[in-house]
Amino acid sequence: MDPRYDVLDDAARLAREFIASLPERPVGETATLEELRARLGRELTDRGEDPRSVLADLARDADPGLVASAGPRYFGFVIGGSLPVALAADWLVSTWDQNTGGYAPGPATSVVEEVAATWVRDVLGLPADCGVGFVTGCQMAHFTCLGAARHAVLRDAGWDVESQGLQGAPEVRVIAGDQTHATVLIAARLLGLGLDRVRKVATDDEGRMIPAALEREMAEHDGPTIVCAQAGEVNSGAFDPLEEIVDLCRARGAWCHVDGAFGLWAAASPSRRALLRGYERADSWATDGHKWLNVPYDCGIAAVADASAHRAAMTLPDSPYIPAHEGGEPWGVDWTPEFSRRARGVPVYAALRYLGRDGVADLVDRCCDYAAWMAERLAAQDGIEVVNDVVLNQILVRVNDDDEATNATIERVQGDGTCWLSGSVFKGRAVMRVSIVGWPTEEEDVDRSADAIIRAAAQAGTPAGHSR
Ligand SMILES: Cc1ncc(COP(=O)(O)O)c(C=O)c1O
Repeated sequence: MDPRYDVLDDAARLAREFIASLPERPVGETATLEELRARLGRELTDRGEDPRSVLADLARDADPGLVASAGPRYFGFVIGGSLPVALAADWLVSTWDQNTGGYAPGPATSVVEEVAATWVRDVLGLPADCGVGFVTGCQMAHFTCLGAARHAVLRDAGWDVESQGLQGAPEVRVIAGDQTHATVLIAARLLGLGLDRVRKVATDDEGRMIPAALEREMAEHDGPTIVCAQAGEVNSGAFDPLEEIVDLCRARGAWCHVDGAFGLWAAASPSRRALLRGYERADSWATDGHKWLNVPYDCGIAAVADASAHRAAMTLPDSPYIPAHEGGEPWGVDWTPEFSRRARGVPVYAALRYLGRDGVADLVDRCCDYAAWMAERLAAQDGIEVVNDVVLNQILVRVNDDDEATNATIERVQGDGTCWLSGSVFKGRAVMRVSIVGWPTEEEDVDRSADAIIRAAAQAGTPAGHSR
């Protein structure tokens, strides 16, 4: 083989070394921002450098700034790892370098994505004929779904938003819970629907939208309306009462969008699917592959029940060099806002084929069971309180019922390196936020991490350390 490609063997070796280090390396980074800038910042040369040295230096210099989020004890934000088969498929995606925005430049990967879309619908229990687009993450999934929503509610009001834009259009009201994720608001902003015009509806103690409050809000506006519900609140993991929300939307002709960045995957588990009751009657669903399905970044999925609205909102205007493909070849550009892009649906194909329906259910159930176990261990300690109802994979923890002690504990846990988690503010109180979605996590990791949290809480001046 051409020796210029020897660098690929180096990459495979370096990848294996990094993966082998994941179970025991400190979970957080060990270098400061200044140190990383000093290590990685170099003079750009005129003549370029040897590729093998470039790669070796890159791996060595980046190493202390790498976070072991693909390892077994990373519980920060909601970040999954990468299943080996998904990672390997992702390497092929980069190697093949197929532009999967279109069938012509990426025939095989377009068909792989077509199949992956069918399997996503199957595993998540979505309508068999819904539109599916593979986007960079849930942020762009919201953008795509709300783009379809904007198209449909304005079409129903006699307005063609794709050709006419929003100037002079009937007002579109967006309604969301007061705990809605920032990315829903960003999507509304990008679509010209106005960040501050999103109407916020009150939520209960777990962050679930209160249907009566939604009903009151909906009654105030008769025109085009988009309701954004949540399956898996970003802090508590709670589910909005989707059945009632969908019914309200149906009664008033509103579009119902579901943010299921991670929570939609509960639909894959027969024992957890009931949390989502009614979700399959919604109009659109945004979720991620790079969270609970454990495929590498970047991978989000937008699904829209009315495939024609989805396509109308995303597809290209006539373009002289793009062949017509009505009803024939699969073209990614019809379903996502992007034109050229990598074949990010390929790792989804590999992961779903590897796991099968039962494997996805097991992955979801395992993480939920570990979350319940972590919550039980922590709640058994004096001074540590689990403040949410742990229905899924999210655990919200408070130390000594005190913001300062909670934040000090988070800092200590991060510094200790056994596991990594972050903080948040939930219903006005500081909380430690533990999120379990990684495929490599095992019971021993949960126990080691619970021990580290308990130790840190004790050092933060609480009586934690003796069981009740
Ligand atoms: C509920 C929820 N919605 C949306 C997002 C945004 O997802 P992404 O970061 O993939 O854009 C997240 C990310 O954590 C989330 O938890």
